[in-house]
Amino acid sequence: MKKNNTEEKYRLLEEKNRLAEEGGGKERVEKQHETGKKTARERITDLLDPGTFVEVDKLVTHRCSDFSMDRKKIPGDGVVAGYGKIEGRLVFLYAQDFTVFGGTLSRANADKIVKIQDMALKMGAPVIGLNDSGGARIQEGVQSLGGYADIFYRNVMCSGVVPQISAILGPCAGGAVYSPALTDFIIMTEKTSYMFVTGPEVIKAVTHETVTKEELGGAATHHGRSGVAHFTSESDEHAMMLIRELISFLPSNNMDDPPEKSVTDDIHRQEEKLDTLIPGDPNKPYDIKELIHAVVDNQHFLEVQPQYARNIVIGFGRLNGKTVGITANQPAHLAGVLDIDASVKAARFVRFCDSFHIPLVTFVDVPGFLPGTIQEFGGVIKHGAKLLYAFSEATVPKITLITRKAYGGAYCVMASKHIGGDVNLAYPTAEIAVMGSEGAVRILFKNITRESELKKSKDEYETNFYNPYKAAELGYIDEIIRPRETRFRLIQALEMTANKNKTNPPRKHGNIPL
Ligand code: HXC
Repeated sequence: MKKNNTEEKYRLLEEKNRLAEEGGGKERVEKQHETGKKTARERITDLLDPGTFVEVDKLVTHRCSDFSMDRKKIPGDGVVAGYGKIEGRLVFLYAQDFTVFGGTLSRANADKIVKIQDMALKMGAPVIGLNDSGGARIQEGVQSLGGYADIFYRNVMCSGVVPQISAILGPCAGGAVYSPALTDFIIMTEKTSYMFVTGPEVIKAVTHETVTKEELGGAATHHGRSGVAHFTSESDEHAMMLIRELISFLPSNNMDDPPEKSVTDDIHRQEEKLDTLIPGDPNKPYDIKELIHAVVDNQHFLEVQPQYARNIVIGFGRLNGKTVGITANQPAHLAGVLDIDASVKAARFVRFCDSFHIPLVTFVDVPGFLPGTIQEFGGVIKHGAKLLYAFSEATVPKITLITRKAYGGAYCVMASKHIGGDVNLAYPTAEIAVMGSEGAVRILFKNITRESELKKSKDEYETNFYNPYKAAELGYIDEIIRPRETRFRLIQALEMTANKNKTNPPRKHGNIPL
C-alpha cells in the first residue's frame, strides 16, 4: 500500500469488510442453506428494522496459533455482533456464524459477546442471542471455557435488568446450553436445532440408552417435555418474527415501562358469550383461552410454553394498549390442577413479569394440587411453594378473577387477596372452598354410609360453599361481576393500580425454594 494514498486505504477497508461479510465462504454458506438454515447475517436482516444494524468488532480475529490456527483467520471469528432496532427500539444482539469454524466459541469470539452484553446492560436494552455453534473451540482449550463462563456471569448480571432472549437455530451442546438457559426466553427451530448437555454418543456409552439427537434435544422435546424452550418456530424467519413479537410486549429494561400500543379495540366491549362459557356442571371442562382471547385487545395473546404443563396457561396480552402478563388455570387440561410442572412454569413467568413492571392478570379455576406419590416424591411441596413465593413477592399490580373453582391451598396460591392481590374479582359461578364436596363430605361424615344421607350433606356443602359470597362477605373478593363485563372491569382495575407503589422489606435477596 502506498503511503498517503487515500483511495488505497478505502479499498483496504472494503476488502476487510468483504472478507468479514463472506463468512466461511460460498461453499459453507451453501451447506448452511442446504440444511434449512440461514446465515448469521441473513438472520439479523430478518430480525431488525431495515437498515438499522450497526456491527461491532467486525474485524476481530482469534489469537490462537495451536493446530496451525494462525494460518486460518476469518474477520469476525464466527460471531456477528452489534445493535439495531426492533419497531424503532434499541436491541443488542449477536449471531453465531456456523460457516466460520462451526460458530465455535474462541476467546476473541467470547469477548465480542461479552462486549455486547456489557453495552446492553449499560444502555438498558434487551440482548438477543442467535445460537448456532459447535460449542467450545477445541483448539483454544480452557480459554474457550473461560469465555463461556464470562458470558454466563453476564447473563446472570443482566437477569432482571434487561430482557434476554435466545434463539437456538442449530447445535447448542455441552456447557454452551447454560447461556440460553440463564436467559428469559428460549425459541427453538423445529428440525434444525437441538440442545443437550451430553449428546447421544456419551449417553450410549454411559447409560446404554439409545436416543437420537432430535428425540434427546430437539424443539419438540424441549417445548413439550422438558420445558426448557418457551417457543418453537417452523423456520429461521419464523423465529425472528417471534422475537420481534415478544420484544413488542417488553420494556427495554427494569427502569422502563412496557411500550404502549395505540388501542383500536373498544375498552367497553362486552362479550355476551362469556356469560355462557362456564358450564353449569362444575366437572365439565371449558377452554380458558376463550376467555383470554375474548378480553385482551384485538384477541392478541402471545402464549408462552403452550405445549408444556398445559394445565396452566401463561403469556402476554394487552389491555387498553398496555402489556399484561396472564396466568390462568386451564380446566380443559387435567381439570386445571396445579402440579410440579405447572407451578414452576407459572412461577418463572410471574417473576419475569414482576422484574419488568408487567402487571399480572390471573384467572383462577383450580381444583387444588394434584395428588399422588409421583407429585409428592417429586417435591410438589417445594415446587408448589415457588408459585406461592412468586405471587407473594411480586409488587406489580395484581388483578385476580376467580371464574369457577378456587379450592384449598391453590386458592391461596393463585394471587389471592391474602398474598397481595390488589383487585380480586369473581364470577357468580365461583366456588371458593377448602375442597370439593366429595372429599369434604367423606372427611366430615366418615361414619355415614347411607348414600342418601351423604348426598344430603353434599348438597348442603355445595349450597354453602360452592359460591363466591362467603369470600365476598369477608372482603376476600372485592366484587362479583358478570362475565360479559370482564374486559372493562380488568381495564378499570389496571387503571386504578397503574401508580401502585409497593416495596418488599429490604434484604440482600429472598430465598425462593429452589
Ligand atoms: C472447533 C469445530 C468444533 C469445535 C465443529 N467444528 N465443532 N471446530 N471446535 N468444537 C468445525 C468443524 O471442524 C468444521 O470445520 C466446522 O466446524 C463445521 O463442522 P462439521 O462437523 O463439518 O458440521 P456438521 O457435520 O454440521 O456437524 C456439526 C456438529 C459437529 C454436530 C456441531 O461439528 C460436532 O459434533 N462438533 C463437536 C461438538 C462438541 O462436542 N463441542 C464441544 C461441546 S462441549 P471445517 O473447517 O471443516 O468447516 C462444550 C463445552 C462448553 O462446548 C463448556 C462451557 C462451560
